[in-house]
Amino acid sequence: MADLRKEIEKRRTFAIISHPDAGKTTLTEKFLLYGGAINLAGSVKGKATARHAVSDWMEIEKERGISVTSSVLQFNYDGYCINILDTPGHQDFSEDTYRTLMAADSAVMVIDGSKGVEAQTRKLFKVCVMRHIPIFTFINKMDRDANDTFDLLDEIEKELGIATCPINWPIGSGKNFKGVYDRNKKEVMLYSDTQKGTKEGEEKILSIDDDSLLAEIGEENYEKLLEEIELLDGASAEFDMDLVSKGELSPVFFGSALTNFGVETFLKHFLQMTYSPLPRRSNEGEKDPFDEDFSAFVFKIQANMNKNHRDRIAFMRICSGKFTAGMEVTHVQGGNKKIKLSQPQQMMAQERKIIEEAYAGDIIGVFDPGIFSIGDTITTAAKPFEFEGIPTFAPEHFARVRQLDTMKRKQFVKGITQIAQEGAIQIFQEYGMGMEEIIVGVVGVLQFDVLKYRLENEYNVEIRLENLPHEYIRWIENKDIDIDKLTGTSDMKKIQDLKGNPLLIFVNEWSVGMTLDRNEGLELAEFGKN
Ligand code: G4P
Repeated sequence: MADLRKEIEKRRTFAIISHPDAGKTTLTEKFLLYGGAINLAGSVKGKATARHAVSDWMEIEKERGISVTSSVLQFNYDGYCINILDTPGHQDFSEDTYRTLMAADSAVMVIDGSKGVEAQTRKLFKVCVMRHIPIFTFINKMDRDANDTFDLLDEIEKELGIATCPINWPIGSGKNFKGVYDRNKKEVMLYSDTQKGTKEGEEKILSIDDDSLLAEIGEENYEKLLEEIELLDGASAEFDMDLVSKGELSPVFFGSALTNFGVETFLKHFLQMTYSPLPRRSNEGEKDPFDEDFSAFVFKIQANMNKNHRDRIAFMRICSGKFTAGMEVTHVQGGNKKIKLSQPQQMMAQERKIIEEAYAGDIIGVFDPGIFSIGDTITTAAKPFEFEGIPTFAPEHFARVRQLDTMKRKQFVKGITQIAQEGAIQIFQEYGMGMEEIIVGVVGVLQFDVLKYRLENEYNVEIRLENLPHEYIRWIENKDIDIDKLTGTSDMKKIQDLKGNPLLIFVNEWSVGMTLDRNEGLELAEFGKN
């Protein structure tokens, strides 16, 4: 089984996280360029064309020109097989975005050098930290005026609570951007934007001791660089691979995705500093990726990619072994039923294609006749087991749902339950009430539109959504607490999930604190356990 090991060892599966506009798409595009997956940079971008065509499955997307779901790109580079998990931004941000991070082995955090840490980076970062996966930072747009480098690093450390270790160091920024200094090799790579759109182009590299360096970058930059190197060597955290693996130290790189400067250096370091898929936790202990049994878990379900067929695609992350088309597997949460995974698909750059085989680390999408739920385990192992569950992420927007035609009660309940089962929304009830008062929680507001649209189009049910001011949800950890006796702030609302578990929602974080103060021993959690 040397082949299996070889295939798995060359896999790297990661997500790119960033705030919209920091340059995630541009960076991805450049990665693909190095992998030869696309010939010309620019083809990922065209959000209205190439990228759109892939997920062109809903009118809403067409109307708004955005993609509602995240996808996976696979390409080969330098002997590695790379899977990039896309995490959508802006309004199309949803719980799916968080769940995608559950399928990644590491994350690349793209930060705009002139903006620093932004809201969405912060949110996604939290999930990466929860999973203790390695996080690599790429500070982008150095060809534009950037914040002071020390300040940027300071901000990452303070705001995100992770130590940083710059692998290279920028010389100036904006019009004065001269290149980056490689701390390990003690060389300067001079900035040039001739690589824009191509992977060829000259890279000029000078040793820090080279006499011509001063002339190349100018006296002021030269002096500043020497000073900063000295400061840095004394002040910054030492590089420690062990801390990087645990997600406690982030290697930092500087560059400009747009002009393709520093991208390949980053990619190379990244690939060397990350590992192939690591064992995953299950109720039967850790599952080794090199195990001959195939195993995978469902992390995303995408409905109705084809309106005429009303089908769903279940996205699975392979955790061990090899997948071959047509193989029979056990669906553990489906009562250990034996099933065949049909129409397995994978994304190759921008194309969706039917695949014959895939390995641990890969993501496949299979046709789902409505049997899968988020977190389900699929395996060929003789003794079935379950991978550790995917947490329920805290919704940040809530609305009360009213059905306009009360005669269609059955369709309404069926529709909303199915959509919740796919993981697009979370549904709750007023505490102590039944399905007559439904509260929907979503991570991104766009999901409200998706819900309304899908109920109307697929289930023929019209609804009205009444937004609630609540933005914070907490799961009650105490098993033996008397919910009726809980006293909170006036904005606090008691709700329950479909299993009857009690939860609290609040308008602001201050109320969460007050409620904790007022109820001794109360334990609230930010993520729900499935
Ligand atoms: P996102 O996926 O993180 O949302 O960001 P995206 O790559 O779409 O980049 C956002 C904008 O920032 C784009 O400009 C892009 O060209 C620009 N950009 C990305 N990397 C760099 C960089 O290193 N330097 C500079 N100067 N700009 C960069 P746009 O005007 O919104 O789009 P476009 O019209 O250029 O395509």
